Amino acid sequence: MSERPITFFFRGSQQQVENVLPTMTVLQFLREYTQTGKTRHTGTKEGCAEGDCGACTVVIGELVNDSLQLRSVNACIQFLATLDGKALFTVEDLHNLLLTQAGTLHPVQQAMVDMHGSQCGFCTPGFIMSLWAMYENEQQPPSKDKISDYLSGNLCRCTGYRPILDAAKKAYDYPRVQLERQKVLNVLKDIQALPALHLNHHAQQFFAPKTLRDFAAIRSQLPQARIVAGSTDVGLWVTKQGRNLGDMLYIGQVEELKKIAVKDHALTIGANVSLSDALIKILEFYPDFQELQRRFASMPIKNAGTLGGNIANGSPIGDSMPALITLGTQLILRVGEQTREIALEDFYLDYQKTALQLGEFVESIVIPLREGQPRFKFASYKIAKRFEQDISAVYAAISCELDKDSVAHNVKIAFGGMAAIPKRAKYAEAILESQQLTAELIAKAQEALSQDYQPLDDGRASSAYRLQVAKNCLERFYVEKVLSQTITRVNDLIAMVEI
Ligand code: FAD
Ligand code: FES
Ligand code: FES
Repeated sequence: MSERPITFFFRGSQQQVENVLPTMTVLQFLREYTQTGKTRHTGTKEGCAEGDCGACTVVIGELVNDSLQLRSVNACIQFLATLDGKALFTVEDLHNLLLTQAGTLHPVQQAMVDMHGSQCGFCTPGFIMSLWAMYENEQQPPSKDKISDYLSGNLCRCTGYRPILDAAKKAYDYPRVQLERQKVLNVLKDIQALPALHLNHHAQQFFAPKTLRDFAAIRSQLPQARIVAGSTDVGLWVTKQGRNLGDMLYIGQVEELKKIAVKDHALTIGANVSLSDALIKILEFYPDFQELQRRFASMPIKNAGTLGGNIANGSPIGDSMPALITLGTQLILRVGEQTREIALEDFYLDYQKTALQLGEFVESIVIPLREGQPRFKFASYKIAKRFEQDISAVYAAISCELDKDSVAHNVKIAFGGMAAIPKRAKYAEAILESQQLTAELIAKAQEALSQDYQPLDDGRASSAYRLQVAKNCLERFYVEKVLSQTITRVNDLIAMVEI
């Protein structure tokens, strides 16, 4: 691994940046970093510096299976060093990169003008970049829900959003203008041939190994180095808390950990798979994952963040863990050449304390699949103040096998936001286990939740609110998954009698 400049595609060619802090963000690079004779790129705005508002949205291009993948991310919490080998596009590129002829606007920009999608204009470059990512990825005008997903990371305080949604559709009415991808790909392929990146700036090191073996070796040699994945958690430790991350070990270049495999009735997701890719894959096998898939953060956060990072961070209000615990998920942990398996529910020991030992890291996440098991019932519910881009007050997940008489087996109930760690509700489960589920029994299990949890009072929700919401989730599961089954059966019987 050699010390060399951070190298990426920018403004039409290879850009090299050296002698910068490994935690310099992409936004700082754009707005503040200057080299002699070069101007600052101030089209990209800073609003919150914590991934919430979308004013800083840029698009990152990556070489994936020999083609260019374009995805929106938040420049404010993305470290520049993680761009090595990738392409960076900002609002200025919609002109500069020959996307449009001089004096004309790109279709997404023209549509924003024509539909009055901009007023004060502060949010506009961010919206334009989210819309551009959509325009490049979707050849036909997407559905309203899909447009909302693309814009889930952008806030606007002036327009009331409708004109922006109109603009998203309108952009497809103009003659199509497409990025010339081959030129970008050629540059990225040249950069890929460079050795793995190693920065050493004022005694702070940044390693970006390209293989699992190298990653594991550095992790063993420098167990205190901070693993960085999508930096949607650790980025905020820098921008909001001013923390020094010390040495950093970036997982994002390790190809082996980007894989998703379906084998032996299990879905294995590498620790370096983005939340966007991981959640959509899980959804294929568990349609009830939809609430989690749509409401988890925003599209730019899901594009950057990883499922491995969500699990390893171990926040008591992290969204994926309750659902994955009820599905019986296992983790593969690795140190050096050794791996071991641990149940996700045993991974959390105490508040922000996990079972990871010195030098160990999460290699992959293994989710059992239940193809052909119609009796398996699963639901997960996110309770938050906004539909998307909001941390949960409570996250509930419930699973069981329900026989034809509504007797539940292998009942698993797990909550986030109710304790210091994502935790199962063992008292409530015991009441329901191997019993016929009835409204009376559900009421008893609801009461038992008070034995399972003494939730916190905080700015997000009061303890009493959290407990009540948790009880409501049990009832919702009963109505949606148990009663509905009974009603369907009664309807089937009526239909048979009528025949
Ligand atoms: P990073 O920030 O890179 O790392 C997080 C932690 O995990 C660090 O301690 C790191 O050292 C460690 N780590 C990462 N990978 C590994 C590994 N393979 N082995 C061992 N340790 C590792 N979270 C939710 O659950 N729900 C939400 O709705 C949500 N919304 C958000 C909205 C915003 C605006 C932001 C900024 C964050 C939000 N988050 C949310 C939190 C965050 O996006 C997730 O926790 C995300 O999954 C973190 O993944 P990452 O790859 O970015 O991790
Ligand atoms: Fe608000 Fe980046 S500045 S999301
Ligand atoms: Fe003013 Fe969106 S146009 S914040």
